[in-house]
Amino acid sequence: MSVERMLAAAIEVKANAYAPDSGFKVGAAVRTANGEIFCGCNVENASYGLTVCAERVAVFSAIAAGCRQLEELLLVTDSATAVAPCGACRQVMAEFDIKLVHMADKEGRIKTYHLAELLPLVFSRKNIVKDK
Ligand code: THU
Repeated sequence: MSVERMLAAAIEVKANAYAPDSGFKVGAAVRTANGEIFCGCNVENASYGLTVCAERVAVFSAIAAGCRQLEELLLVTDSATAVAPCGACRQVMAEFDIKLVHMADKEGRIKTYHLAELLPLVFSRKNIVKDK
């Protein structure tokens, strides 16, 4: 079951989160069309605005490996209730047409949403009109 594989991978990578400011560790895993799983954790920075979320690290890792067909993403935190991805990460997921987003709490309980529910009226590439 891919969700279980993603959960295990996301829990493992969460241990590597670099979160000296917030102390809030996040792990993410994205599954590609051919079944590969790429992971990411949040990476904070002394220049706070440079912090990158776990979800974007996972997506960019898949892209850097040459995998562009991304199917679903799971994020996990140590929170008692499942945490939803930030707006910036939703927009990045939309860029690669990720369909399903799973959110796991510290007990591994999972809530699943369609990205379209999380990001209605998405801005997409199709909306861009270019000068001739
Ligand atoms: N964070 C994520 O990694 N993913 C999210 O969806 C929300 C927030 C990180 C960023 C920062 O390192 C910490 O959680 C607190 O905001």
